[in-house]
Amino acid sequence: MKLLFLNGPNLNMLGIREPDIYGRQTYAALEDYIRGFCGEMGIDCEIFQSNHEGVLVEAIQNAYGKMDGIVINPAAYTHTSVAILDALKAVSLPAVEVHLSDVSQRESFRQISYAGMACVKTYAGYGFKGYRLAAEYLKEHIGK
Ligand code: DQA
Repeated sequence: MKLLFLNGPNLNMLGIREPDIYGRQTYAALEDYIRGFCGEMGIDCEIFQSNHEGVLVEAIQNAYGKMDGIVINPAAYTHTSVAILDALKAVSLPAVEVHLSDVSQRESFRQISYAGMACVKTYAGYGFKGYRLAAEYLKEHIGK
């Protein structure tokens, strides 16, 4: 099984950005964590981060025909991007939305998720573990 792990803007600043919300571990540590559990689970993973909406759209498009599913943390684009929603719908790959923080307990502008409308499941507030939960869910979902 091949999964694309896609991360949006400012997630490359993990460890530096608002540590009280996002923790003190770096983006490199997140990549290591994802590679680690994918290895254990027999998942072939591709991990990609961009601060640019169009680049994220292209990464989703490029997954078509190559990947079995997508784990996506669109970061701030979660709450603004119809383009990312449309890209997820276009490829119609099973996708799971992940947020490190519990967005449901944060500002009102974070209460809408466009990308989430094209996702089969959302994990928010589990920190790094949310990515693993998403991969486990997809493994189960795709296996059916
Ligand atoms: C985030 C939550 C978003 O609201 C925010 O814009 C982010 C990160 C999270 O992982 O908790 O950049 O997606």
